Amino acid sequence: MKRSLSGIKSTGVPHLGNYLGMIRPAIELQEGYEAFYFVAEYHALTTERDPAAMRESTYEITAYFLALGLDPGRAAFFRQSDVPQVTELAWLLSCVTNMGLLERAHAYKAAKDRGEANELNHGVFAYPVLMAADILIYDSDVVPVGSDQLQHIEMTRDMAARFNAAYGGQFLKLPEPMVREEVATVPGTDGRKMSKSHGNTIEPLAPPKKMRRQIMGIVTDSTPIDEPKNPDTCTVFALYKLFATPDELAEMRGNYATPGYGYGHAKLALFERMDAYFAPFRERYQQVRSDPDYLDAVLDQGARRAQPVVETVMDRCRDAVGLGSGRR
Ligand code: TRP
Repeated sequence: MKRSLSGIKSTGVPHLGNYLGMIRPAIELQEGYEAFYFVAEYHALTTERDPAAMRESTYEITAYFLALGLDPGRAAFFRQSDVPQVTELAWLLSCVTNMGLLERAHAYKAAKDRGEANELNHGVFAYPVLMAADILIYDSDVVPVGSDQLQHIEMTRDMAARFNAAYGGQFLKLPEPMVREEVATVPGTDGRKMSKSHGNTIEPLAPPKKMRRQIMGIVTDSTPIDEPKNPDTCTVFALYKLFATPDELAEMRGNYATPGYGYGHAKLALFERMDAYFAPFRERYQQVRSDPDYLDAVLDQGARRAQPVVETVMDRCRDAVGLGSGRR
């Protein structure tokens, strides 16, 4: 069976962009693939300085995955820190990775351009190397990710190829990214790409009141209510598209062309559609979220499944570079 692997940073509550871009595709792949998914706490440490928030976020994300359909009997779901060997592989990769490659990383360049000296720690610079280690240490075949992670997968393939070339063998397997084009960019409430750092997120499993507030806060243009509106430039419509059937979408187009139909109506329709979609998941979420013992049991079981896989790849890499006696 081919292996699917992905990670999600523990920096708060997942948002709609995370759900559509990564969580839902990853969960779908548990059918037909051997799935390994983890909470990327080491990556979160590049920005997160609050240990309690870090732990809460890990539980939050685990509860999200379980509520949204992850089956812990099939997929291994675990904490990155329960597989500390990734930091060892990251070092081996660091030693074959040119500075130039890392200097071209979008996330590093963005942090540098913002001129926030505080953000520019070595972890931010080395982030893609650790992410490559995360992926390569499982001999992963596919990596379901949002389109913003494509460059990281490219860099991962680069590093694997360099390692293989440097030591003359096929030690590391080159993975393929898997991106859902239909949800490549999910707009946030201000029209920019949905992102925690923009403060424009919608939380899919928040209580209905909160989700409603987030949706009613979507920024729209100032076309008066008695004039037709352009659906194709409207964030409300773009989000509605992600949940509506073709018929519902055609009807909504008609509404936008109809004077008297306002953005408030469209937002309400979007809320109703999303609320109906997420309501069953929300119930399950509340159940598991209040049961840390269960969440820990799932995470521990996941770590026990991940560990043996990791040791075979690490032995291969340690032997390749000349660590240890080389005798087995
Ligand atoms: N960088 C990813 C993000 O910000 C998280 C991540 C860490 C990841 N390691 C990974 C994703 C390995 C896929 C595979 O969302």
